Amino acid sequence: MDFSTKLKQHLARVEPALDALVPARTDAPAGPARIYDASRYSLQAGGKRIRPVLLLAAHELCASSDTATTAADPLPAAVALECVHTYSLVHDDLPCMDDDDLRRGRPTLHKQFDEATALLAGDALLTEAFALLARHYGDRPALAVKLLRVLADTASGDHLIGGQMQDLLGERKADATAAELEFIHLNKTAAMIEAALVMGGLTGDADEATLATLRAAGRHLGLAFQIVDDVLDATADAATLGKTPGKDAASGKTTYVSLHGLDTARGLAAEQTAKAGAALDALPGDTTFLRELFAAMLSRGN
Ligand code: IPE
Ligand code: IPE
Ligand code: MG
Ligand code: MG
Ligand code: MG
Repeated sequence: MDFSTKLKQHLARVEPALDALVPARTDAPAGPARIYDASRYSLQAGGKRIRPVLLLAAHELCASSDTATTAADPLPAAVALECVHTYSLVHDDLPCMDDDDLRRGRPTLHKQFDEATALLAGDALLTEAFALLARHYGDRPALAVKLLRVLADTASGDHLIGGQMQDLLGERKADATAAELEFIHLNKTAAMIEAALVMGGLTGDADEATLATLRAAGRHLGLAFQIVDDVLDATADAATLGKTPGKDAASGKTTYVSLHGLDTARGLAAEQTAKAGAALDALPGDTTFLRELFAAMLSRGN
């Protein structure tokens, strides 16, 4: 099967799962009904679904190996990860953070609803992610704990939140170093990409060596992904991005483009993508789709 057919196949599983596993609560009291309405407004806005697709692809690779005996359904994990990601975008766009008006081609959640609703819907999406894992993997307690732990570590103050904090601390910082910038990108973004591959490995019953390889690949891929996001912020238009371009320069963010320039940033993204691909060499099985996905993620920035 060619790359785009396979990608469509994964997306065709993710979209209905997002709808089914985070349903509307029209019969609920007004408070919960509004929270789920707002959550679904952001969740269903048609993101690229990179993280769920990476999770499904890693799952498929691992579950088809000779040693996998007890693979589990990867879709609830994929939805949980997209819930955490979407919450991080909703909060990232708030006026006290990046102050953005456009996301996924629509007004941001706080523009469409209001700030308090965006804050609370983000809280609800984050919490719902853990509820989904507990609910859907509860009959496999060892797997459930592993998935919960990976997602909790990733979303924690040491990673996603710590990276977001460092990103804000880096605004208008004239003496930001390359190491500080790498810390931001590894934590605010790469940690979630790593989690996607590792969680797919876990539902696919991967062994420890495979999980470590997936983690290493995800770290490089995630770094490349955020470098490309920085390049696109400086080069693409709103229609292509579905979000406001030029925000990083306007708010004085430390990015790969501000620190290294466009060409070097593109080169570093290619280097990290090559390292992600090289990590996959250690894995048995057919890694073609993952490699093509890595290449497609990189080519967004060219
Ligand atoms: C945007 O992520 C935030 C970053 C970590 C760069 P995506 O580019 O995956 O956004 P969506 O999910 O497609 O909207
Ligand atoms: C966001 O980084 C990373 C998150 C954890 C949401 P950015 O602030 O660069 O993401 P965009 O460009 O707004 O999507
Ligand atoms: Mg940000
Ligand atoms: Mg932002
Ligand atoms: Mg950005």
